[in-house]
Amino acid sequence: MTDSIDASLVHAPIHASVHASVHAPIHAPLHAIDLIRKKRDRGTLTEAEIRFLVAGAASETIPPEQLAAWLMAAWLNGLAAEEIRALTVAMRDSGVKFDPHRPGSGLGTGLGTGLGAGLGKGLSKVAVDKHSTGGVGDKTSFLVAPLAAACGVVVPMISGRALGHTGGTLDKLEAIPGYRTALSLEEFEAVLVKCGASIVSQTPALVPADRVLYALRDRTGTVESPGLICASILSKKLAAGLDALVLDVKTGSGAFMRKREDAEYLAALMVTTAEAAGTRTVALMTDMSQPLGAKAGNWIELVESVELLRGERKAESEDLRELSLILAGWMVYLGGQAESPEAGYARAEAAIVDGSGLRVLMEMIAAQGGDVAVLDDPDFHKPGATLVVEAWETGYVAAMDTTMLGWAVQRLGAGREKAGEPVDAHAGIHFHARRGSFVETGQPLATLYATTESMLAEPGSLLRRAIVFSETAPAPVPLVSRVFTLAEAEALLHQHL
Ligand code: URA
Repeated sequence: MTDSIDASLVHAPIHASVHASVHAPIHAPLHAIDLIRKKRDRGTLTEAEIRFLVAGAASETIPPEQLAAWLMAAWLNGLAAEEIRALTVAMRDSGVKFDPHRPGSGLGTGLGTGLGAGLGKGLSKVAVDKHSTGGVGDKTSFLVAPLAAACGVVVPMISGRALGHTGGTLDKLEAIPGYRTALSLEEFEAVLVKCGASIVSQTPALVPADRVLYALRDRTGTVESPGLICASILSKKLAAGLDALVLDVKTGSGAFMRKREDAEYLAALMVTTAEAAGTRTVALMTDMSQPLGAKAGNWIELVESVELLRGERKAESEDLRELSLILAGWMVYLGGQAESPEAGYARAEAAIVDGSGLRVLMEMIAAQGGDVAVLDDPDFHKPGATLVVEAWETGYVAAMDTTMLGWAVQRLGAGREKAGEPVDAHAGIHFHARRGSFVETGQPLATLYATTESMLAEPGSLLRRAIVFSETAPAPVPLVSRVFTLAEAEALLHQHL
């Protein structure tokens, strides 16, 4: 016996608006205000309380100011492991789910050729995805999804929009005229059957809680929280019915988790949470101390990706190529199509050489309504205004504040200040120098593309503040610094206890 009382009942008011039903010690009526105060006072919410908040977010019955206050309390005081697990599962279950292996699904045995035909093809195929915690110039999805699909796995990828200083896969894809990201689950399945990969948005029906919370976090400075990031990412991934997942956890000046220890904690948290939910998961800690590849924006990121899938090699894009092959290698390995991640890498590289990766991407774009012809049109890129920023010193590019560079990209018009605003397909930055490059004064450092002339000034000055020169070359940073399998993730979390 204990004389302590359940903290969840302390503030329980008399009038119920929603009754929590799962694992609540008593069917206590719940109100958002009590849960805000509980988190504000560093309490740990019960699973029922988390479900209540998530249901209120999904149905939009809890007003945004209360959700925002709770998010800020969670950001400031942190979430316990059990709260993170409950939040992830409640968000996953907040809408309909996709099951790539449902009996009679379009992923059955391959009986047709058109969109919507071919039922049954993928039962034997493993559904694998990759997700990044967000970065600047991070466009690996456009490479890994088609490459892994070309190697025999199915990639049902539910992606997000620009968040904070980071770009959004959906915003980039929508730079292609006609490309539809908001597919119904039937359409999603049909594209997967036809192409092996499909990149879509979460739709109001799929993980609706994340749609609401993600947009609120973007506007309230509550993005950079390990627990909130874990639940946001994994809820979408688990709702897609994945068999396996490769996580790309960014660390460095452009990552949400800038400090290595925080990024490691996030990686371990996500691996254990996803594994507990039944998805085989691995996390790679990867460098975000500079933009990935040479381009950050919307359309220009797609172009850089397509060039690589065409087999073109440019020094400025080598880090992007290498990381994409490593991630695709893990996907192919976890999907049972290679003996090891290294063998998976070799298979993915072969899919660049034989053109099958590019074919999958083009088929996917066409299947989702996109005009593939623009990808062959060098005149399609028509930014409203252009500015070349030249090096103001001679020396090595020693450091980049990549978060500041990300904000510069967003303010050129590639991102939005308010939810729902349109973004400029052509805005962005082409970086001509990388960390460690030696440049002479006056040499072009970056080309900025904006919607209008007046939008160039602030990003130009952000860029100047973000880059530091030195007389000596900086120490190189490994592209992949650590890999977390379940055993490593559990060991790290054990140290945190
Ligand atoms: N990507 C997401 O989907 N959610 C986050 O919170 C961060 C990155």
